[in-house]
Amino acid sequence: MSTPILEIRDLHVQVEDKEILKGVDLVVPAGEVHAIMGRNGSGKSTLSNAITGRDGYEVTEGDILLEGKSILELEADERAAAGLFMAFQYPIEIPGVATMTFLKSAMNAQRKARGEDELTTPEFMKAVQGAAKDLSIDKDMLKRALNVGFSGGEKKRAEVLQMALLEPRMCILDETDSGLDIDALQVVSEGVNRLRAPNRSMLVITHYQRLLNHIVPDRVHVFSDGRIVESGDKELALELEAKGYAAYDPVAA
Ligand SMILES: Nc1ncnc2c1ncn2[C@@H]1O[C@H](COP(=O)(O)OP(=O)(O)OP(=O)(O)O)[C@@H](O)[C@H]1O
Ligand SMILES: [Mg+2]
Repeated sequence: MSTPILEIRDLHVQVEDKEILKGVDLVVPAGEVHAIMGRNGSGKSTLSNAITGRDGYEVTEGDILLEGKSILELEADERAAAGLFMAFQYPIEIPGVATMTFLKSAMNAQRKARGEDELTTPEFMKAVQGAAKDLSIDKDMLKRALNVGFSGGEKKRAEVLQMALLEPRMCILDETDSGLDIDALQVVSEGVNRLRAPNRSMLVITHYQRLLNHIVPDRVHVFSDGRIVESGDKELALELEAKGYAAYDPVAA
């Protein structure tokens, strides 16, 4: 078997001295899309924040491997340069910075970290225009400040555009807390499906079984109380929709 893109071993994570993740094991092989579902507060976003190396998420036990190498000692930007991409539910707004400019610096920062030359302006323009066309993003949107006043669907489009340009090996999409209207749902699913590739894997965190009709996952995992308590194929998402999470709740002490 080839090296999985992402491997998580017995991961324990504390936030403000409280243990939130209590031993997560997860393997995402190359080319696969895995979905994570689970009750509010079960630790799904904590898992994605820990993987991306966000400040305040302390790994007390276990390991996170990207293409076979531990990334625990890497800073968040180094993890991004190593091929990790995280799409946030609430993307940050960057007033005063045109989307174009943001994209160019993001791409160049990553190239620099990898020891590659910066893109020339014509190379960059060609890449952005190609990717923007695939996502039906018009040129005017690229001139506007990133995410400022963007609709939910436009933010998702801008996010998928970043994902397409940065060509990550592992994409994490945290779609918690609703906020995905029909437009955004379609943008996310089409964007994700277009970016599926044999050497790229994705983790999609969602409350919507509906999203998984569009992005058909290879595996579905159920999260409860800081652990993965069940894994199955796409049918598991349908079962969860019908039965809810009660069967997975921890037994009260
Ligand atoms: N910065 C923080 N400070 C204190 N507690 C936190 C922090 N971040 C997360 N937690 C706690 O960790 C637990 C798991 O939260 P998390 O956001 O990971 O859940 P989730 O599964 O993503 O929920 P949702 O489905 O609502 O998005 C919650 O009890 C939450 O209050
Ligand atoms: Mg969450």
